[in-house]
Amino acid sequence: MRRDKSAADDYIAAMNKAFPRPLPDSIGATVDLLAEANYLADRSLGTVLYLALKMGRPIFLEGEAGVGKTEIAKVLSASLGRRLIRLQCYEGLDVAAAVYEWNYAAQMIAIRVAEAGGEHDRGRLEHDVFSERFLIKRPLLQALEPDTAGAPVLLIDEIDRTDEAFEAFLLEVLGDFQITIPEMGTVKAGQPPIVVITSNRTREVHDALKRRCLYHWVGYPTAERELAIVRTKVPGVSKKLSEQVVAFVQALRKQDLFKSPGVAETLDWAGALSELDVVALDPATVSDTLGVLLKYQDDIARLEGSKVKEMLDEVKSELRAAE
Ligand SMILES: Nc1ncnc2c1ncn2[C@@H]1O[C@H](COP(=O)(O)OP(=O)(O)OP(=O)(O)O)[C@@H](O)[C@H]1O
Ligand SMILES: [Mg+2]
Repeated sequence: MRRDKSAADDYIAAMNKAFPRPLPDSIGATVDLLAEANYLADRSLGTVLYLALKMGRPIFLEGEAGVGKTEIAKVLSASLGRRLIRLQCYEGLDVAAAVYEWNYAAQMIAIRVAEAGGEHDRGRLEHDVFSERFLIKRPLLQALEPDTAGAPVLLIDEIDRTDEAFEAFLLEVLGDFQITIPEMGTVKAGQPPIVVITSNRTREVHDALKRRCLYHWVGYPTAERELAIVRTKVPGVSKKLSEQVVAFVQALRKQDLFKSPGVAETLDWAGALSELDVVALDPATVSDTLGVLLKYQDDIARLEGSKVKEMLDEVKSELRAAE
């Protein structure tokens, strides 16, 4: 789906080339910083972010799918001109994938070549193959390295997908921003990275980890803010259609659904309707495009029959009343 992604990515690339910016000095400046990269935050998010940046603490963002958690780290990196380092979490994520790994194949070749060249000093060989040249740095280690553009933004995405052992390890890293590589020594960040941790809350993350962070629940936006988001991110859609789209999605979220649509779905839907040259919502169009908004058959089935028309009539009469 052609949406905001490519524009956001271009923006991030452009901004990353720019000079690093100082951290915002007020809540308002933090909200403005995000707005520069088209992220429309409410004041409570602005406050927590401002404090996290000011106090040098990780920010822990929890919320439903598609409400804009990951995007916060992306726009922070873009607006501050910092490098974005992303650690995507999954079940079974281990130190080799998250921190570092030795390049065994290259080490073996180096040893063979050295031996063929008559090198038999074991101590020296060992020293050589356990040097930085053979170290594959993964996101957590990369985030501790010095960067002329300032400390990077470290996004630890969807931490609820990892297991508790990894969480405990992370706790250590976030505690003192250092990692010990037994063969080489300790790597310590001169300037701690800006850490953004996200969770979809498929399980509770341990209190000890949360305690080190500032917490924010990213909820669904109000209708007013969601409309502003649609208008910013899908500019080709008329004001009238945007209003109907947002009002319908907001009404959907009040239904008893297994999975309510997030902002991502609202943007997708607005984009899809625009591709179809729709100028105003009607029951048939809504029914035909429900798959953009709802991803579970049970939820779609719940809206079958006259339900869509009923909701749409209500939405339209509310919009008329508000005019
Ligand atoms: N306040 C906002 N301002 C601008 N865009 C937003 C806002 N909230 C969400 N979006 C947009 O919604 C989309 C989804 O955001 P994102 O991928 O960050 O969600 P998420 O919470 O990380 O979802 P998931 O849990 O599925 O990973 C993005 O395109 C993002 O730009
Ligand atoms: Mg995400």
